[in-house]
Amino acid sequence: MLPDMNPADVIGSYREVVLPLYGLPPRRVLLVDREVAYPDGRLIVSVTDLRGVITHCNSAFVEMSGYPQETLIGAEHSILRHPDMPAIAFKGLWDDVQAGKIWHGYVKNLRRDGAFYWVYATVIPNVRAGKVQGYTSVRRKPARLKVAEAARLYAQLLAGEGGK
Ligand SMILES: Cc1cc2nc3c(=O)[nH]c(=O)nc-3n(C[C@H](O)[C@H](O)[C@H](O)COP(=O)(O)O)c2cc1C
Repeated sequence: MLPDMNPADVIGSYREVVLPLYGLPPRRVLLVDREVAYPDGRLIVSVTDLRGVITHCNSAFVEMSGYPQETLIGAEHSILRHPDMPAIAFKGLWDDVQAGKIWHGYVKNLRRDGAFYWVYATVIPNVRAGKVQGYTSVRRKPARLKVAEAARLYAQLLAGEGGK
């Protein structure tokens, strides 16, 4: 279960959206129209269990998301879900990794302070003794041109999903 976002954590004027989540109660998120640039030379890494609950994350993850590590460990990865992301993007991610395949894609993530950041993510199934144990995602800085393309595509997909 994910806590609602806290107005006290948010920097700047925000818009409130109730975000439906898969298998979880809807979450109230607070959105600020401000992008935080992906830090140069860093990799943002997290590991999840089979359900997408975070089991490990690195310091770049903590810094960019704005959440303390104690909050992140044990939280569903959808703690970063931004309502501008279409559901179909995550369906593709889950279909691929559950089939044992690697998924690559551009993701717009929501920070604790309401701002957002774009990443280029590679999600890998972790296989041990022939069985998938969980998943690792490694993100790097996305090319600006690709972010612009992804933002256009996601807006179209979202409109098709009945979003804004
Ligand atoms: C290893 C791994 C990394 C993930 N990273 C992200 C992420 O950075 N941002 C995000 O919104 N969802 C991420 N997801 C997908 C979420 O688990 C979730 O499916 C997504 O946020 C959409 O929420 P929903 O499934 O509740 O609809 C990741 C999943 C896995 C397995």
